[in-house]
Amino acid sequence: MKKLFKCDVCGYIYEGEAPPAACPKCGVGPEHFIALSDEDAKKIYSSDRTNDIHFELITLVDKMIALCNEGIELKLDPNCVRAFEEAKDELWVIKGRSKAELAGHMAKGKW
Ligand SMILES: [Fe+2]
Repeated sequence: MKKLFKCDVCGYIYEGEAPPAACPKCGVGPEHFIALSDEDAKKIYSSDRTNDIHFELITLVDKMIALCNEGIELKLDPNCVRAFEEAKDELWVIKGRSKAELAGHMAKGKW
């Protein structure tokens, strides 16, 4: 059965039967990998999809901000420009909320 091992140098999480010969991120040897408890592994597996969703939201927000910038540059009329500017502000909030949520997950071991 596969287990999760965490690098105590960089935090990389490795899935396997045993720790890797070298950390894929920082290169340290297997002696730097700590086997995660079942409880900690469950946190990681259960948060995997939600973290991906937050990353997708952030990517979508960046695309939407680019669209808003294009709309602002076109300057059709003041109301239209204001709508794009307000949308950018709202998108920044959405992006910041997802980033904060991800930071909270990482701090709690929910990779
Ligand atoms: Fe590492």
